[in-house]
Amino acid sequence: MQLQQSLKASKYRLVITGFCLIANVTSGCAPSAASSLDRRFWAGNKPGPNTSETTPQTNASIDAVNNSNLMNAARLNSFRPGDTWLDTEGQVINAHGGGFYVENGVYYWFGELKGQDGLARAGISLYSSTDLYNWRNEGLVLAVDKSNPDSDIAEGAIIERPKVIFNKKTQKYVMWFHLELKGQGYGSARAGVAVSDTVRGPYRFLTSFKPNNEMSRDQTLFVDDNGKAYQIAASEENQTMHINELTDDYLKPNGKFVRTFIGRSMEAPAVFKYKGRYHLIASGCTGWDPNSARQAVADNMMGPWTELDNPAQGPESDVTFRSQSTYVLEVTPGSGQFIYIGDRWNPDNLADSRYIWLPLKYDNGRFTMRWQDEWQWGQALPVTP
Ligand code: DGJ
Repeated sequence: MQLQQSLKASKYRLVITGFCLIANVTSGCAPSAASSLDRRFWAGNKPGPNTSETTPQTNASIDAVNNSNLMNAARLNSFRPGDTWLDTEGQVINAHGGGFYVENGVYYWFGELKGQDGLARAGISLYSSTDLYNWRNEGLVLAVDKSNPDSDIAEGAIIERPKVIFNKKTQKYVMWFHLELKGQGYGSARAGVAVSDTVRGPYRFLTSFKPNNEMSRDQTLFVDDNGKAYQIAASEENQTMHINELTDDYLKPNGKFVRTFIGRSMEAPAVFKYKGRYHLIASGCTGWDPNSARQAVADNMMGPWTELDNPAQGPESDVTFRSQSTYVLEVTPGSGQFIYIGDRWNPDNLADSRYIWLPLKYDNGRFTMRWQDEWQWGQALPVTP
């Protein structure tokens, strides 16, 4: 028993140490000030483009929080799911329906920049972090096109659920997002694609389409170990999920796709791989209102997928702790430490929607998560055997 515990503890320390090295964090992974490496890292990187456009007026309550915290950007050392989350400059993080990308020990958080009307009509914001708690605003990396009313991303378009992956062959960062053309509400159901030579952008809008001529709303991307990439999207009026295999450059579907979870009305897909199996966490389809999360597993990305039970456990699990999935992030590649990342939409004030990050626990082929008021990735995450 004792041996088991100390083994567990040392495994635990290893994971933490590994992460600290990657994250350039000095001690305990909860630094109170930026390390010299941190400073060197940031010094060499210019802020993202269009920085002045990153914080359009949202609403009075957010502005009030921003103003009162402007001079008080305290360094964070824990997650507090559902709290107002401030960036390193004391501004409320505005990156909803987020997608994550990790490179050289830096985490990048791409998200919808929600404006005053609560809709994502400005473009895609980017934040970066070395410890997952403290996020620096890198600016608007894809902006709606204000100069060309004929553009697919003309002002008035809705841009949601951005996800970014890197293509080794073309050396491009490829962003896919859910696009609704201006003036059509949620009727056009398209996927948009943009690229950049650098992770921080700016991203150049390329095109939008219906993958394989089918509707595409809530969506995510997944890159397999062999480099094959997939777009997973709510299709057929959100009744059925489609998994679209992408071309080698990741810019479009290659024509191979499967319909899965037929008639199950799933949204908000997040896909990840563990122990050689593919896992999906998604939501039901109830607009901005929360519902029970869905969970599924497959031996192949193109299926068949087997639905399991709700990964959320305990009080408020029936509404996924009032959140909707957007991504599952592995803390360090291969660590098996996964974080559920969801949006807690506020339908009365969508711009004031919050973020729910919770540790996922792997047990016997499935993942579970429980509510935590406050937690640290190093303490709350279980080490899986
Ligand atoms: C729920 C989706 O998951 C969101 O991303 C958004 O598209 C809303 N529906 C729109 O009603």
